[in-house]
Amino acid sequence: MKKIILLLLILLSMNSCKEKTTTQTEPTTDNSTWWKEGVLYQIYPQSFKDTNGDGFGDFGGVIEQLDYIESLGVTMVWMNPFFESPLVDNGYDVSDYRAIHPRYGTMEDFQEMLDGLKSRGIKFVLDVVVNHSSNQHEWFKQACSSRDNKYYNYYHWWPAEKGKPPYRHSLFDPEGAWDYNQATNSYYLHTFAEAQPDLNWENPKLRQEVYDIMKFWAEKGVDGFRMDAFQFASKDITFPEWPEGHEKDFIKWYGMRPQLHDYLKEMYKEVIEPYNVFAVAEGSGSTLKDAHDLVDEDRKELQTAYHFEYVDMSRTPVGYKLADFKEVFTRWDKSFAEKGWIAIFLSNHDNARLVNRFGNASPEFRAVSTQMLNTFLLSMRGTPYTYYGDELGMTNIDMPTIEEYVDIEAIGRFKKAQAANADMDEFMEVLNYSSRENARTPMQWNDSVNSGFTIGKPWKKVNENYKEINVEQQDKDPKSVLNHFRSMVKFRNNNKVLVYGDYQLLQAEHPEIYAFTRILDDKKMLVLLNFTNHNSSITLSQLNNINETLINNYETLNIDNDEITLKPYQAVIVSIK
Ligand code: NOJ
Ligand code: CA
Repeated sequence: MKKIILLLLILLSMNSCKEKTTTQTEPTTDNSTWWKEGVLYQIYPQSFKDTNGDGFGDFGGVIEQLDYIESLGVTMVWMNPFFESPLVDNGYDVSDYRAIHPRYGTMEDFQEMLDGLKSRGIKFVLDVVVNHSSNQHEWFKQACSSRDNKYYNYYHWWPAEKGKPPYRHSLFDPEGAWDYNQATNSYYLHTFAEAQPDLNWENPKLRQEVYDIMKFWAEKGVDGFRMDAFQFASKDITFPEWPEGHEKDFIKWYGMRPQLHDYLKEMYKEVIEPYNVFAVAEGSGSTLKDAHDLVDEDRKELQTAYHFEYVDMSRTPVGYKLADFKEVFTRWDKSFAEKGWIAIFLSNHDNARLVNRFGNASPEFRAVSTQMLNTFLLSMRGTPYTYYGDELGMTNIDMPTIEEYVDIEAIGRFKKAQAANADMDEFMEVLNYSSRENARTPMQWNDSVNSGFTIGKPWKKVNENYKEINVEQQDKDPKSVLNHFRSMVKFRNNNKVLVYGDYQLLQAEHPEIYAFTRILDDKKMLVLLNFTNHNSSITLSQLNNINETLINNYETLNIDNDEITLKPYQAVIVSIK
């Protein structure tokens, strides 16, 4: 009979998620920098906080909540696009890169927001959407008027006298990526929606325009750029016939052309280096080498990138296997251990909510499982990206019928499924689970009408669970998801071992527990995460060497010599000898 030593490690006292600060260890790496060490918070501006009652979040709302943002301990904010736009793709269709869409406020409001963040030591990352513009951008309007127009070559065209262009996949348009323009008798390319024509990066004039736009914002004081859909910027402009079925692997076929690296080097010299800003690419090609080619320091292209390998794992209600999840994170970590730097994220505005996809959104487990996932996110090597609302455990909404959807991606998927005669009930089930709309619902501030987001009619319905999940209520509860998040961010900020330390996966094959160590010089931490809704045990020799418990989302730790039994979604970090 095993003698259970129920180590009531009440080092944790009353607060289940209290953190202990160990002495800060300086990084051993000589290229430490703020964009590696910080924690990034992503704000989807139309859903964060409305201050004028029009139902859309605005800069005023961010200004009002600056203290809240600071209270999270985050050191960077990335905000989704707020530029002038017809809003076909919620701002990822920019019609004037130097102007602000009035629904967010004015340039003065922007400056006030930026200054407010910076005075709190928070850097600002701007979304740069330059794989494509809006079809309402002056460049495109002019380009569409004649082949002789000076802006015609700012876009990609297929002259109709050559016949129809070879099929090219569009991410949003079920009919493909080419659309006909009468006045020029040519087809223009749009990797995304019809209203998002691709810019021609092979044209040096266009590239200079983009650098000028980036300089404009750098001069206003932004600290970094998130390059939207950037792996697709350079194209093979012969537009060859691609093999049948290639669209299943379209990143491989359309992304990461060699010329992209020339353009990035040029951008680095023109903008990144002189303005001392940083840039992160959305997407990183289809191999580890592709990612390294974008971000390795000596390449002088970008500083970091994020890849989709694990978010792609959980796009359907079928879910994912923990072993695969571990394998992906471990492979990427290993590859970037010596060189290069990546972002770590589990959710953003393009995916369903974190807790629905990787945790357990049932009322019983959503809090603990979100705490567990946030512990994971904040204890990996790489820069953690947290999406607004995930610090509370906000969940998906229920949208069973297509009439409720406004997102262009969801509507495109629906039309494609219809055209393919898919089982539409099944399709709606998957869409309801996976659509981007899940992650775009208004921030849940309190339990007053519309969750305190707006006094007007919210642009998107508020999740009906806002009375149980909101900032005001979680603020008061020391055991809440929010306070656990704050503790974890503070803990990471104070412990460079979590930023720079070596990562070692333990018991890769354990199907329920993710266990790993982080080690930097004499600092050693063991991270233990139960990914299931039941108790689960693991045996590890490191458990004999525990110094103290630093993070725990439960009151207790159940350790018997070298075996630990974790409660459902229990997340623990201990220091070890
Ligand atoms: C990626 C963005 O994250 C997404 O929201 C957008 O729809 C596409 N790029 C097109 O810009
Ligand atoms: Ca507003």
